[in-house]
Amino acid sequence: MKQKKPLFIRHANQLVTLAGSSHAPLTGPAMNELKIIEDGSVWMEDGVIRKVGKDEELATLYRDRLSEADVIDATGRLVTPGLVDPHTHLVYAGSRENEFEMRLQGATYMEIMNAGGGIHATTSATQKADHRQLYEESKRRLDRFLHHGVTTVEAKSGYGLTLEHEMKQLEVARELNETHEVDVVSTFMGAHAVPVSFKQDPETYVRLVIDEMIPEVARRGLAEFNDVFCERGVFTPEQSKRILEAGLKYGLKPKIHADEIEPYGGAELAAAIGCVSADHLLRASEEGIQAMAEKGVVAVLLPGTAFFLMAEMASGRKMIDAGLPVALSTDCNPGSSPTVSLPFIMNLGCLKMGMTPAEVLTSVTINAAHAICRGHEIGSIEEGKKADLVIFDVPNYMSLSYYYGVNHVDTVIKNGRVVIQ
Ligand code: NIG
Ligand code: FE
Repeated sequence: MKQKKPLFIRHANQLVTLAGSSHAPLTGPAMNELKIIEDGSVWMEDGVIRKVGKDEELATLYRDRLSEADVIDATGRLVTPGLVDPHTHLVYAGSRENEFEMRLQGATYMEIMNAGGGIHATTSATQKADHRQLYEESKRRLDRFLHHGVTTVEAKSGYGLTLEHEMKQLEVARELNETHEVDVVSTFMGAHAVPVSFKQDPETYVRLVIDEMIPEVARRGLAEFNDVFCERGVFTPEQSKRILEAGLKYGLKPKIHADEIEPYGGAELAAAIGCVSADHLLRASEEGIQAMAEKGVVAVLLPGTAFFLMAEMASGRKMIDAGLPVALSTDCNPGSSPTVSLPFIMNLGCLKMGMTPAEVLTSVTINAAHAICRGHEIGSIEEGKKADLVIFDVPNYMSLSYYYGVNHVDTVIKNGRVVIQ
C-alpha cells in the first residue's frame, strides 16, 4: 500500500545517500564513500524518493506544499537506505537448538548433516508443514527482519527437496512478498542437499533438479535466481555447473554457495559461469577471488555463519583490497545462522573481517542490492528510487557498527509509508 500524502524527513544529522552507483556495485576505496548529507532531508511521494538534499534547499523548494506532507523531524539521528539482505533461507519450519548443543560438545556441522540431521532435519519439518504453517512461521521471521531495518530480503527454497515441497516453499515466499511490507526476492535452491533417499544415487537427484524442478519453477515464474550448495559431500563443481547452466537456459540467474568448508573451486566456477554472486567464500582460493574480481561477481560474505559455526571468517578486507564488490548478509537459517539481525552482521564485519564501518554499510545497502540485481531501484537514497529508508537513533553511521547487540532502529519507511515507529 502506498502512502497518499507526501512524506518529508527533515534535519537528519547524517543522511547517508550512497548515491551514484545504481548501475554497478561499489568496489575498492569507493566502498568507503557514503555520500553523506548533514542536516539532510528527503521528500517522498507515491512510494518514490522525489528529492534529496540539505534541509534549507528542500524547505525552499517545497515551501508551498509543506502543509500537505507528513513531516518527521530526524534531528540528531541517522538516516540510511532500507537495509537489504541478499542471502536468506527465510522459509522453513522448526528449529535446531538440539544440534547447537551437539556442536557445543564437539560435533561438526557436516557430521551432523551426514548423519541425517542438519539440512535434512529442517527438510523433514518443512515437508510436514502445510502452506499456512510455513507462511506463519516465516512471516514471524520477516516481521523481525523489518524491526531490524531490513526492507528487502532474498529468500531461498531448498528445504523441500521434492518437486511438490520446493514449489510449496517458493509459493510461500511469493505470498509473503505479496502480503508483507518487506519485499521478498525468490531463489530456487533445489540443489541445497542431496536428499537422504538419493544418497546412493546423487546423479538421479541432479537430473530431477535439472529436468523437472527448474522447468517447473520457470514455468510458474516462482524464482528469479538459481543457487547450489557446491561443497564436498554435497554437489561437486561439475554437478553445480550443470545445474546452474540448466537454470540459465530457463532465465534463472546463477548464484552459488561456494568454498565454505574447504577450497573446492566454487569461486572459480562462479567466475567462469558469470554468477551474480558467490556466497560464503571462507576458503576460496586466491585465483578464485582474482577471477571473481575480473568478472565483477559480488562476494556475499556471511560472518554470522562463521561466528555460529565457530569457524574462521572470510577475509572481507582481502577481498575488498583485491577489487571484489563485497556484500554482507545474515544467511538466516536454522542450522548455521539463526539470526535476523543485519546490524549484528555489520558489527562482525568490522570486528572479525577487517572492514570499516563505512564499508559494512555499503555492503548491506547498495552492494547488497546489486547482489540481487536490484541496484537500480533500492540500496541508496536517490531521486526515482523506492522510498525505503531507516531512521536510527544514533547520531552517525560509525555508531551503527560500534554499539552491538542493541537494536537502534527508530523508524522504518517502506514505499514511502511509515511501517515501524
Ligand atoms: O548457507 N550451506 C548451506 N546452507 C545453509 C545452511 C542451511 C542449514 O544448515 O539449514 C548456509 O549456511
Ligand atoms: Fe545459505
